[in-house]
Amino acid sequence: MIQNEDIFKAIISHSKEYGFIFPSSEIYDGLSAVYDYGQYGVELKNNIKTYWWKAMAQMHENIVGIDAAIFMHPTVWKASGHVDAFSDPLIDNKDSKKRYRADVLIEDYIAKIEEKINKEVTKAAKRFGADFDESMFLQTNGRIAEYRKKIEDISNRMNRALNENDFEDIRQLIIDLEIVCPVSGSRNWTDVRQFNLMFATQMGAAADGASQVYLRPETAQGIFVNYLNVQKTGRVKPPFGIAQIGKAFRNEIVARQFIFRMREFEQMEMQYFVRPGEELTWYEYWKEQRMKWHLSLGIPAEKYRFHNHEKLAHYANAAADIEFAFPFGFKELEGIHSRTDFDLSAHQQYSGKKLQYFDQELNESYVPYVVETSIGVDRMFLAILSHAYQEEKLEDGSERVVLRIPPMLAPVKAAVLPLVKKDGLPEKAREIMDILKQDHMCQYDEKDAIGRRYRRQDAIGTPYCITVDHQTLEDNCVTIRERDSMRQDRIAIEKLPQIISDKVKMKF
Ligand code: GAP
Repeated sequence: MIQNEDIFKAIISHSKEYGFIFPSSEIYDGLSAVYDYGQYGVELKNNIKTYWWKAMAQMHENIVGIDAAIFMHPTVWKASGHVDAFSDPLIDNKDSKKRYRADVLIEDYIAKIEEKINKEVTKAAKRFGADFDESMFLQTNGRIAEYRKKIEDISNRMNRALNENDFEDIRQLIIDLEIVCPVSGSRNWTDVRQFNLMFATQMGAAADGASQVYLRPETAQGIFVNYLNVQKTGRVKPPFGIAQIGKAFRNEIVARQFIFRMREFEQMEMQYFVRPGEELTWYEYWKEQRMKWHLSLGIPAEKYRFHNHEKLAHYANAAADIEFAFPFGFKELEGIHSRTDFDLSAHQQYSGKKLQYFDQELNESYVPYVVETSIGVDRMFLAILSHAYQEEKLEDGSERVVLRIPPMLAPVKAAVLPLVKKDGLPEKAREIMDILKQDHMCQYDEKDAIGRRYRRQDAIGTPYCITVDHQTLEDNCVTIRERDSMRQDRIAIEKLPQIISDKVKMKF
């Protein structure tokens, strides 16, 4: 059986081979943790963004969208707390000169203990066969209890130290756990230091007294600083939301796992402005709504789980992640945060402008509280790809790689394929193509044997292949092949637009 690591590698090379994702500036050997989206990648990415945008801005009458600039006044980042607190704890190994996130070293150590638990379960399942009761085993096995206790102790100590900026204890924890540098194998660690993740640059010519600006590390602040503009012009009142999709930049120390953690990435964020005191009700509402959105894509529920935060960010009074089962384990895909009135109050204080709402029903003014939903487009892309990628052995002994991308997100919805390149079949196929491309991204392909063309479409996740053969010229019918089942049906050309539209329609 292929291990998850092998699958992950296969997904990365498939992404490149089939024009989904390329390393940035590849002819110059790439740029670390920066990627470009290719011809199919951009389609899938755009479809993910459209699906999110429609679910938020179109399906909720009280959510409107904006598109704020990436550059913002530098004081925004002072007010938001990013200048002072948006940092990761860094540690260097003195022998290899490699730099690590101290908390990630500890989390990797915890992951190894979790692996041991999984191994115990697999071993026991083999031993007990059909009688094996996994949840009972997890509850009663002594060794597993020890492992779990160890994880809990380590997590508690790490969370306390992080919360209290006790970097000496984080270093001590690394030493106590005997964590070694994966490169040098030594335990020769420096002190732990804080490293700010924002990219800074200069705006204006230096002679004019250029000022330092930042590339935004989250899109949310563009929403907060426009709160009053939207509230005054948008005829909205709490509860209401502002949605935005856009680029964000973070100078990540540990940039790895392909597009999971990038230095330039895209976020889809929505800030929901509510009455103070109602934020935790709305927080629960949005947790549920966002999980529903994920499940509406048809990906099995067991691939998702909530992780409630114990260590809260400086702005939150409740927070949870929706985690996804990536090939490298369950990891954060989306965050739902109850951000209180932290951001609006801070901007009010730093800008000197009132950011309040006069609630006529209550006959009082208040700074609205905010519940945020925040998901990375690229992470969502990776989740879809990890779920979709499958290597299959077929009944005839051949193999195929198929991307079972939810049809509504598939880069190409249908491929139109004349069986042969002559006898008027290409002309007929072109006629069909001209009709279908009015509504959908379609592809015409007449090169190679039909089987190879099916494989090419499977590999990019095209839900439908439409084959035009000699009989088509007589009865105006085509063969339509469905990607996942490979089932083939004969249908009238006039029915094609409806069939494809029904299958690929975005549903919520
Ligand atoms: N405004 C809140 C905020 O930015 P976050 O948890 O730091 O919260 C939200 O980020 C989401 O953005 C994450 O759940 C993840 O999907 C995505 N994200 C964050 N950092 C990322 C990175 N370096 N590369 C790719 N996606 C990232």
